[in-house]
Amino acid sequence: MADPVLTARRAISVPADALVLLVGAAGSGKSTFARRHFPDEASVSSDRFRGLLTGNEADQRVSQAAFELLHQAIGSRLEAGLLTVVDATNLDLLSRATPLDRARRSRRPALAIVFALPAEVCLRRNRTRPRVVRPAVVRRQSASLRHIRTDLEGEGYAAIHIFGSESDIQSAVVLLTPASELSEPARPPA
Ligand code: UTP
Ligand code: MG
Repeated sequence: MADPVLTARRAISVPADALVLLVGAAGSGKSTFARRHFPDEASVSSDRFRGLLTGNEADQRVSQAAFELLHQAIGSRLEAGLLTVVDATNLDLLSRATPLDRARRSRRPALAIVFALPAEVCLRRNRTRPRVVRPAVVRRQSASLRHIRTDLEGEGYAAIHIFGSESDIQSAVVLLTPASELSEPARPPA
């Protein structure tokens, strides 16, 4: 297999049955990227399920129920061989573990797309959004990306794509490929 770590490559091949984990701080552009490159129904997020349950995507009181639904949706979609894009920060191993486990069980490839933008970019964008995330949280999230490549390498992805700048993201192209082109399941963690 080719080197799975492809830094800032313009073309990202995504098998039609893949799990795609978007990884990045609040305001790094994950949802914008998902809207631009993936069909709407392929994107799942705990925020969406919070919204479904309460009418308010930010309502933290239903976090556990939202995550249960999220994990069910991920598992069902992967089992059915449907593209599944997890639009969440996915910054810690714990948040990635269940989606990865579902991919492994369904023998679907898992990809990670990392939005490693400077904290200042995320902070600037956060200031002008309706849902403002506290600057200290954004800084902490950005700092946690420092070792993200090493962190992800041991988790068994078929490919890891790391964007380091706004122009990398702008120039990226997502190529949806047939499911049969990549049948290698995610490996268990090392
Ligand atoms: P997103 O809402 O896409 O960020 O963009 P995100 O990573 O999903 O954030 P969380 O984790 O859900 O909180 C954040 C803001 O940045 C703008 C978007 O319009 C939005 O207001 N943005 C995004 C840009 O201005 N340029 C971009 O290239 C991407
Ligand atoms: Mg988002």
